Order: sequence, then C-alpha cells, then structure tokens
Amino acid sequence: MKFSNPTQLTSAEDRLQLEWLIDAENSPEDNTGSDVIAGLSQNPKSLPPRYFYDDLGSQFFEQICQLPEYYLTRTETQILEKYSLDIAKITGPCELVELGSGSSTKTRLLLESYAEIAAGLRYLPIDVSAGILETSARELLTDYAWLNVRALVSTYEVALGQLASYPRLVNYKRMICFLGSTLGNLSPAECDLFFSQVSGALQGGDYFLLGVDLHKSKEILEPAYDDSQGVTAKFNLNMLQHLNWRFEGNFDLSNFAHYSLYNEDLHQIEMYLKSLKTQKVKLKKLDLNVEFEAGEMMLTEISRKFDLSEIKQELQKRGLMPVQSWSDSKNWFGLLLCRLQQV
Ligand code: TRP
Repeated sequence: MKFSNPTQLTSAEDRLQLEWLIDAENSPEDNTGSDVIAGLSQNPKSLPPRYFYDDLGSQFFEQICQLPEYYLTRTETQILEKYSLDIAKITGPCELVELGSGSSTKTRLLLESYAEIAAGLRYLPIDVSAGILETSARELLTDYAWLNVRALVSTYEVALGQLASYPRLVNYKRMICFLGSTLGNLSPAECDLFFSQVSGALQGGDYFLLGVDLHKSKEILEPAYDDSQGVTAKFNLNMLQHLNWRFEGNFDLSNFAHYSLYNEDLHQIEMYLKSLKTQKVKLKKLDLNVEFEAGEMMLTEISRKFDLSEIKQELQKRGLMPVQSWSDSKNWFGLLLCRLQQV
C-alpha cells in the first residue's frame, strides 16, 4: 500500500481512457499492402517488419524476451531496477509517454519511482496492438490505485504527431520513453526522422528516455537472434503466415528458413527468410506473383547496435541534449536520458 493515495481511490474504469488513433481491426495502418508489393518487387527482396506483429507474432516476441540468449530485455530491466529512482529525481514529476509499450513490464519500474516523487501520475502507453495495450493498462490500474492511464492505439508516427496538442498536467514535464532498443530496427534515415518527430512532440525542458543495445562481439549477438529453441525462427517465419492470412497468400512455411547474421561493418543484425527451393508464391488480394530462387534471401529486419557517444551526437543535432546515461556492468546495454533544448 506504499503508493496508495486516499484521494484517488476511484475505480480502475474511471482512471482509464482508451483512444483509437488508428483502426485496430485493420492495423497495420495502411492495409493496401503497397509496402509488401514494393518490398517483394525489389532485388534483393525485403518485407516490412511491421508484419511481424499479429497476435501470434506478439506472443512469440514476448517469448523471445524470456530466452536465455536474448540478453536485451533482462539487461535493460536490471538497469531500470537500479536507476529508475535516480531518473525520476533528476527529471522531477513527469507524465510518461511510452512508444511501443507492449506488456509495460519494464515501465512499472519507472512508474513506481515516479509515484515516489509525485502524486496523480498519468501514463500514456502507445501501441499498435489494441489487445495487449488494453490488457496491460487494466493490470496496471488494478495494481496502482494512484495511476491514471490514457492508452492510445496508434503507430509512433501518428501518436507523436498528435501529442503536442494534448492537454498537459500542470507542473508536470513530459517524458517520452522508447525502450527495448526498438530504435535499432530503424534505418539511419528513419532514425533521424524519428528523432525530429520526438523533438516536435515535446516542449523545451521535456525529456526523452532511450534504451539502446550497444556494440559487442558476434559471439554474443548472433545467438540472441538465432536461439537454440527456435523461437526467433518461428517469429520470423510467422510473418509469412500473417501475409497469407492478410493478403490470401500461399507461402508454404516449410519452404523457407530463418537466417540471421551480424554485419560487423554496419554494426547490425540482419534477419532474413531464405527460400529453400525455386518456387512461386501468389498473394491473391495484392494480385501479386513472386518468384524465388533456391537460396534466395529476403530481408525482414535489421537490429542496429550503437555507440553511446555517436548516438548522443545524433540526438543533439535534433535539440535532444544528453543529460545522463546508465549501463550494466558489462556495458551491453545503454539507457540515455535527454532533455529538449529550451528555445
Ligand atoms: N528491438 C529489439 C531488437 O532489435 C526487438 C526486436 C525487434 C527483435 N525485432 C526483432 C528481436 C526481431 C528479435 C527478432 O532486438
């Protein structure tokens, strides 16, 4: 009962607002499949990573986070366990906005620390998956009687575009949290655009908290994206199942295999689906026929690994001034707090 505040013991229902900025039934937002057509018409072929996350894909992803080889989630959690109160003390009272909140597990650590320093806390989780967003919001509200949640079913881009016009709480800064090294799944150009959207969504003096996976050896990185239980392989292959369902396709999953490698020059994991034979695939709803050669690789995801000082420079270019950073004892993962320059 450490965090309960008698003035706020209203029912969980009264403390929840759920808002759809995109049509969850049809998410991914653009349902025309133009991005799939573009990716499959290129040479080399690629598929847009957003198609990983149907319900089954989101479940596989939760499993990935628990894998012994997948150190990212565990390491970032340890850093938050150790330093979230320091973060709260540096920033003072903040309204937390989380991009890609998923199950909000790590965020609990931050919310608890912020509750220690301020009352009437509001949390704005943003996720494209309405199911997981609503479930985890309800769980948080049951556990934390002092919390208000405004959950947004949305992509980052749409939500960041709207955020600046949302009414603010008096005496509260805003802090946008982007954890899990999701930044690494963006190309350098997408990353730069993303930083400018983040700074556009904040006011001078507001905060941005970023979790990034750092450079390390191939021997540690590669197993994290190709685990011994084959969960990452299932996650990758499930994208084809999702495309079959969404676009009436006939990908035969047994004719493709998960393949990943660490590209040391670009400091990025590259995840592919490899065609195991010469084959033709049809996506009826897209009126698309695709031919694959035996051994052909189709890119599904990159996961870039960062150098803290380089990323700080990139942030600074967008007015996001580094305040402090934290890491684990092995320097595997970094958590970076930035503050938007006052103009
Ligand atoms: N951002 C995390 C990472 O790059 C999570 C993630 C995104 C991921 N896509 C993935 C993990 C594909 C495994 C496979 O690690």
